[in-house]
Amino acid sequence: MTKHPLPSVTVLGLGSMGQALAGAFLDAGHPTTIWNRSDGKGDGLVARGAVRAATPGEAVRASEVVVVCVVDYDAAQAVLDRAAGDLPGRLLVNLTSDTPERAREAAAWAEALGVDYLDGAVMVPVPMIGTPDALVFHSGARSAYDKYETTLRALGGQSTHVGEDPGLAAVYDLSVLDFFWTAMHGMVHGFALAATEGVPGAAVAPYMKALAGLLASVVDGTAEDLDSGEFPGDLDNLTVEAANVRHLVRAAEHRGLDAAVLRGVLTAADRSIGLGHGADNWSSIVEGIRNPA
Ligand SMILES: NC(=O)c1ccc[n+]([C@@H]2O[C@H](COP(=O)([O-])OP(=O)(O)OC[C@H]3O[C@@H](n4cnc5c(N)ncnc54)[C@H](OP(=O)(O)O)[C@@H]3O)[C@@H](O)[C@H]2O)c1
Repeated sequence: MTKHPLPSVTVLGLGSMGQALAGAFLDAGHPTTIWNRSDGKGDGLVARGAVRAATPGEAVRASEVVVVCVVDYDAAQAVLDRAAGDLPGRLLVNLTSDTPERAREAAAWAEALGVDYLDGAVMVPVPMIGTPDALVFHSGARSAYDKYETTLRALGGQSTHVGEDPGLAAVYDLSVLDFFWTAMHGMVHGFALAATEGVPGAAVAPYMKALAGLLASVVDGTAEDLDSGEFPGDLDNLTVEAANVRHLVRAAEHRGLDAAVLRGVLTAADRSIGLGHGADNWSSIVEGIRNPA
């Protein structure tokens, strides 16, 4: 039986993420070409079989799939401008993180050149790249994703296409990171609050984990509330929960901690209550979020 060779892949940008992406393609057996703006990066990849290109154009010409992953979209555009004439006929996958607006602009630029384009957002840290649990959001032409899905899955087993609009990968990225960073702040703030009373983080950690599990268990219900616009308050209500947050703000400020995030939560809850949602559940805080002062 003839074995079809795996698609060749180029990675433009060898920061810590670019190197991990190129390494995952190599591990999966893809002929891999690499390029970076400055010298001195990627020797380990070359030792593992990657080919180093001297220019972005040479790198692009080497492969049918071109991945760019640099610090931001200005940098990505600067690199792509140097290879624009070589891109048509290949799939360009932009795994640089930025906003949906920048992703749509980049997609329009690619479309004007006649280049197939997927935008993507890498949702995991470097050490997870190439593992079955790694998540990468992709958006843009479904047909392009379908054609190269197996190749793109070399980067992460949970890679998924979230829609034809090229801005959607960035939308999903923003949404889950909005949640993540606020929760990460809350976790550190909670530990800091305990520490003001001499309670070490390790003592609180098991209970923090239990609440993290509780949080996971309410995600689907909260999504349903937001999608339906109904916030049934039969089991909990915003007035009582806002009172809880008010105690927290007071306790944090009394101990000399920054309480700006908690105060922001309280302000949104109070605004929502003012709009008539005091007897609705916690999800109704969204009305305070949607109607900033
Ligand atoms: N690291 C992570 O854990 C992680 C996780 C998820 C998503 N991401 C995303 O992955 C992307 C890359 O992150 P990273 O961690 O690899 O960053 P990094 O280690 O700081 O590397 C930055 C890369 O961008 C290049 N670059 C910067 N300015 C440039 C310019 N004007 N022209 C050409 N190349 C330029 C750098 O080239 P030089 O070597 O020449 O400076 C380098 O290759 C970012 O969008 C980041 O948000 C990273």
